[in-house]
Amino acid sequence: MKFTLTILAAALTTTTAFTTAPGTHIARSTTFLEASSNKKKIASRTKWAESRGMASGGTAVAEGPSAGLMTNEGGLEYVRLVNGAGDTSDIYLYGGCVTSYIKDGQEYVAVRPDAKMDGSKPISGGLSHCWPQFGPGAIQQHGFARNVNWSVKSMTDTSVELEMAPSDYTKEMWDKEFLCTFSVNLEDDKLSTKMNVENKGEESFDFQAALHSYFTVSAIENLSIAGSFAGKEFLNKMVGEGEMQTEDREEIIISEEYDRVYKGVNDPVLKDSGSGKTLTVQNTAGWEDTVLWNPYGNEGMGYNNFVCVESVKFDPVTLGAGESWTGDMALVPGDL
Ligand SMILES: *[C@@H]1O[C@H](CO)[C@@H](O)[C@H](O)[C@H]1NC(C)=O
Ligand SMILES: *[C@@H]1O[C@H](CO)[C@@H](O)[C@H](O)[C@H]1NC(C)=O
Repeated sequence: MKFTLTILAAALTTTTAFTTAPGTHIARSTTFLEASSNKKKIASRTKWAESRGMASGGTAVAEGPSAGLMTNEGGLEYVRLVNGAGDTSDIYLYGGCVTSYIKDGQEYVAVRPDAKMDGSKPISGGLSHCWPQFGPGAIQQHGFARNVNWSVKSMTDTSVELEMAPSDYTKEMWDKEFLCTFSVNLEDDKLSTKMNVENKGEESFDFQAALHSYFTVSAIENLSIAGSFAGKEFLNKMVGEGEMQTEDREEIIISEEYDRVYKGVNDPVLKDSGSGKTLTVQNTAGWEDTVLWNPYGNEGMGYNNFVCVESVKFDPVTLGAGESWTGDMALVPGDL
């Protein structure tokens, strides 16, 4: 039975499911209009979602995309949020990863063309979690939060709350009593996220955290990144073993490979002269630092169509028994 229902869900999402070529997101949202007008399929999917305990799993709307729990071609489950204006966001349970945010037809979140969307490796793209370690360090690079399935704690058409608790797999690497929740809220004017880490154990533990966020750009040469960069020291990981340097620019333009940690900068604004759009990465709690990453020149990774502007807590947080830490980040689109 589960197999049949999954096929139905897959059929519905075939044309709309993740495609790996860059620039296909807009097509995806328009094809979804056709797909969702098929009430029979929606009914099937609603039934499927309900059978899995999803409250508002497929509230059928007469027009436009519909919200709910979906399965992609690779067998991974994701939650699609839809608001009244038809803006959407997709959040994969694998890695608790936001892979799409479309507002007014514009996709703001990028997934690399070489990303695997079947769970065989962490999703290379989206708002990818680095937790409990940014890396490199004692455990696997970027930690394990991005390669385990998070569970859905609650959801509505416009919001979802995911949860990640310790498993045998995580305990083998990092034997701590934690509970992470990650909430995503599709609002009228922005996409809000909240990462919460709670220490459920008796002893304190340390962690680092990041949203290794990939954003779309029309072309890297048309991107500039504003923020409080000027005068700040940054770790330039592309020089030797890493070198501290001082930024003298007001706005960053990327014209070579970048891997830089700007500590104490958390107000980046992406300005894309090609799309005429801006995207403010609004870090209002917890996220103190920004990492800029772009594999300039790497066609296979599609370097020219994305930039990583990561919300980071670089210096480790020490969390005592019963304490919690929160990182609040919202993506706010605008016009240039
Ligand atoms: C995550 O969930 C998917 C879909 O249910 C499943 O196929 C996959 O094996 C799970 N992955 C892990 C690492 O548990
Ligand atoms: C980038 O900017 C240049 C110069 O303004 C323009 O000619 C080009 O079309 C832009 N590229 C994209 C992809 O928008």
